[in-house]
Amino acid sequence: MRQKITVRLKDNSYDIHVGEGLLDQAGELVAPILARPKTVIITDENVARHQLPRLERALTNADISFDSLILPAGEATKSFEQLEKLLDRLLELRLERSDKIIAFGGGVIGDLVGFAASIYQRGIGFIQIPTTLLSQVDSAVGGKTGINSPRGKNLIGSFHQPDLVLTDVTVLDSLPERQLLAGYAEVVKYGLIGDKDFFHWLENNGRKIISGDPAARIEAILTSCRAKARIVAEDEKEQGVRALLNLGHTFGHALEAEVGYSGDLLHGEAVAIGMVMAFDLSVKMGLCPASDAENVRRHLEDISLPTTIGHGNHPISKIHMTATDLYDHTLHDKKTSAGKVTYVLASAIGGAMLRRDVAPEDIREIFQQALKTRPL
Ligand code: GLY
Repeated sequence: MRQKITVRLKDNSYDIHVGEGLLDQAGELVAPILARPKTVIITDENVARHQLPRLERALTNADISFDSLILPAGEATKSFEQLEKLLDRLLELRLERSDKIIAFGGGVIGDLVGFAASIYQRGIGFIQIPTTLLSQVDSAVGGKTGINSPRGKNLIGSFHQPDLVLTDVTVLDSLPERQLLAGYAEVVKYGLIGDKDFFHWLENNGRKIISGDPAARIEAILTSCRAKARIVAEDEKEQGVRALLNLGHTFGHALEAEVGYSGDLLHGEAVAIGMVMAFDLSVKMGLCPASDAENVRRHLEDISLPTTIGHGNHPISKIHMTATDLYDHTLHDKKTSAGKVTYVLASAIGGAMLRRDVAPEDIREIFQQALKTRPL
């Protein structure tokens, strides 16, 4: 069974299909939007090992010819060097402006391929087939694309919406549990920013999502994508409400920058810690009941996500960092305008808001508090 959500935009609406085994139907789903039966799949080594033959078979069965480009796995692939190589290969393969390419992977592949599509011959179409929970509920939807600069993550990019998103929950079966948990943090985010009932549903069903129940996974992905589609339709270029999707991200990006975007801290793990910090800050500013912050912390802990910089045996609990260094990272946030960082805070679970009036001392103190939890 497959379900469809439409992202309704002024210029280019598109569908997200969610279901079990969609990868095997990819040929018939993709064919109607191709100008000619030819495409290029761009993926990484890990996805190629586990899932590429399924996609290739599905395209072959639909008489679509293709080339497969396999890039190195990992964040370092979101670079100028890989972008240049990718564009060169697309030129060599004589892709035309009416063709569409396929991003088959997690956030790294989706962001890089989307950016390449946005600048190849001034823009060609692309299809997202996300293979991680994080990309299925967040990065594959909404058209944020880009690469990293040595000066920071995602600093070079564009808005370029995909023409189609195909989300197959069966591809999650080969995903390591740590990656699943990291993606789950972004699922929880949708409950925290605007859907208290979804948060309560996750409290009861979150474990099933991690352990592999397809129905629970589909339900969580659909609810997340519906929320994201609504927000993106209202504010495609992040002039306002879309910034709510950054709950926990300013704190989280500071932690990621401090550990050098290494495997010691996955993006979703940083977001989990950051969301707890955002709720703690909201309590500190008198905006949110302490019991809500406690419920957020408890659920993330129950599911085995880190909730603080000193979390148990997590690698970041052993990395030296100071509140001042972490605070300094927040000042480089992309959401800074006129020198002020916009924070996503909350009045309750499901009640997120944007605030530009947060006192630097409060932010430093929240970092201090999270650092104090480290083992001696
Ligand atoms: N990942 C946040 C956004 O797409 O706006």
